[in-house]
Amino acid sequence: MTSADGEIALVTGAGGAIGTEICRALRAAGARIALADVDEASLEWTTAELGPGDDLASFAADLADDRQTAELPGRVREHFGGLDILVNNAGVREVLPLLDLTPEQWRRTLDIDLVASFTLARAAIPGMIAQGGGKIVNIASMAGLAAFRDRAAYSSAKAGLIMLTKVIAVECGDQGIRCNAVAPGVVETPMTSSFFHSAGMTASIRANTPMRRWCCPAEIAEPVVFLCGPQARFVNGTVIPVDGGWTAGYYGAELSPRPKEA
Ligand SMILES: NC(=O)c1ccc[n+]([C@@H]2O[C@H](COP(=O)([O-])OP(=O)(O)OC[C@H]3O[C@@H](n4cnc5c(N)ncnc54)[C@H](O)[C@@H]3O)[C@@H](O)[C@H]2O)c1
Repeated sequence: MTSADGEIALVTGAGGAIGTEICRALRAAGARIALADVDEASLEWTTAELGPGDDLASFAADLADDRQTAELPGRVREHFGGLDILVNNAGVREVLPLLDLTPEQWRRTLDIDLVASFTLARAAIPGMIAQGGGKIVNIASMAGLAAFRDRAAYSSAKAGLIMLTKVIAVECGDQGIRCNAVAPGVVETPMTSSFFHSAGMTASIRANTPMRRWCCPAEIAEPVVFLCGPQARFVNGTVIPVDGGWTAGYYGAELSPRPKEA
């Protein structure tokens, strides 16, 4: 028996780099996977990448839209007959100086990176309680643990997501819901591809990371599987930084070198 044997997991942002690996790892642990993303082409790509099987089903949904977000857990229940695991992984990020960030960009980032996780949890939890419990894992960021330059909306949303994680744990723990977060450091994905075109940036990442490297998406997926599994059965309301030690030491506001340093 594997750690998520027979469970049903909804993974948002499943078409993205980290989402794909979370789906792969949860599937390998025995779960059936509902893949959700706004980008239907990326959902097709992930499904092809994971290989065929009626243990996978795709759900197109725009998490910037409250109605589509609130309906998603019900769509998954209708298809698979239950929902045991919710992984709030979808995210967007603006990298702009505070004074250049518009209120529209601020709201959109907060809507997708924070409000949607609340709306999904709110829609998923009653069914989880009715079936005897469930697990929620929120993909935050080290930018939610420390302030990084040029990430006002992103850092604020991820800090809010970390606090939402704790509130859900405190409020719903006695009803069988465990809610935890993973806070990645720098992961090589399309979201961060621009970092790797800059010698200044890669040098800055190495300088700030005690392990002197960045990570790959699978290294984020493995702690997610742990948090969903029986070995984490008493782990609730916590945040696991998966950042090679970055936030254990220097809280590096240097992730965005000023243009002359790039
Ligand atoms: N890459 C990193 O270094 C890093 C570091 C820390 C945290 N994270 C977090 O990890 C998560 C995944 O990031 P990634 O690097 O795989 O990024 P990615 O861009 O590859 O994937 C994000 C996915 O979210 C989806 N998405 C965006 N807006 C959506 C919406 N409105 N509705 C539904 N889906 C939507 C995108 O289509 C995409 O498939 C994000 O929450 C991100 O903030 C990433």
